[in-house]
Amino acid sequence: MSSAAELVGNTPLVELRNLAANLPSRVLVKLEGRNPGGSAKDRVALNIIREAEASGELVPGATIVESSSGNTGIGLALIGRLTGHPVVIVHTAQISAEKRQMLRAYGATLVEADWDAPPESPDNARAVAERIAGSIPGAWQSKQFENRNNPAAHYRTTGPEIWHQTAGRVSHFVASIGTGGSVSGAGRFLKEASAGAVRVIGANPSGSTYAGEPDGPILVDGVGTRWQRDWWPHTFDRNILDEVHTLGNSPVYEMVHSLAREESLLLGPSSGLAVAVALDVARSAPPGSVVVVISPDTGLNYLTKAFNPHWLESEGLAAQGETP
Ligand SMILES: Cc1ncc(COP(=O)(O)O)c(C=O)c1O
Repeated sequence: MSSAAELVGNTPLVELRNLAANLPSRVLVKLEGRNPGGSAKDRVALNIIREAEASGELVPGATIVESSSGNTGIGLALIGRLTGHPVVIVHTAQISAEKRQMLRAYGATLVEADWDAPPESPDNARAVAERIAGSIPGAWQSKQFENRNNPAAHYRTTGPEIWHQTAGRVSHFVASIGTGGSVSGAGRFLKEASAGAVRVIGANPSGSTYAGEPDGPILVDGVGTRWQRDWWPHTFDRNILDEVHTLGNSPVYEMVHSLAREESLLLGPSSGLAVAVALDVARSAPPGSVVVVISPDTGLNYLTKAFNPHWLESEGLAAQGETP
């Protein structure tokens, strides 16, 4: 391999042997944590940087600025390093300690913004990113919530990989919704490849308004939106989805713990969300269905949160092992 960029993509699909043992359908998890930066966002970072360089929007050596809850930042830092672009990441206090350290390890500059600042506030993460980009000559904002090369990354790579790995047998596709890039990009490909047969299902955390429910605190990193504060991302094409399922925090974290204990898969909370929804889908799908679900990242990013009894207790969640 000529560089770490070649490690991006071609992630494995692993079957849930235990959690789906008594179901009439198969559930296969696509392990995006196996990307070099530990998440699906490496695909997005690679695609948006390549396309911006090709179009001339991003000139050699220019700084990339993004506001990110972590994974997109890590992907950009990783690919930025390989392509000669300094990277500035604006994050909020919500970011896990692990992701913060990884960003530093890859050489990104970190700036903290106020998680509670509304969009009109100068302290809002996107406003801070805008200001920083304006102050650095030639700086370019990757804008993961607006950049069409985000869903295009999944249309070009994640979707075709799932299609080939299942030899076209995938019948249901489940992904959690953050920017919506994964679910609408890979979902669009799978719809087209199957002439509309694949059902596409979005997984939404409680507190998020993607399913039309009222907004509230969101406890699952990297996913969900709040209409009152966030705009509907341009990267999320709701028309691709057949259904959106919302799940509460307790079942999400119980699933994260079950995946580790029963499948030996250490995955992040948004994976717990998506897998719990995928198992629900598999329960009611026609027998013999093949449900593919995206696991966006690894649980190693959340050892101090999802796998920490003190953090779980502080959020009113059951510790690992206390679940039935
Ligand atoms: C941990 C995690 N899970 C899921 C997602 C959602 O992916 P997408 O933005 O493609 O909807 C993200 C996005 O940042 C994420 O960081």
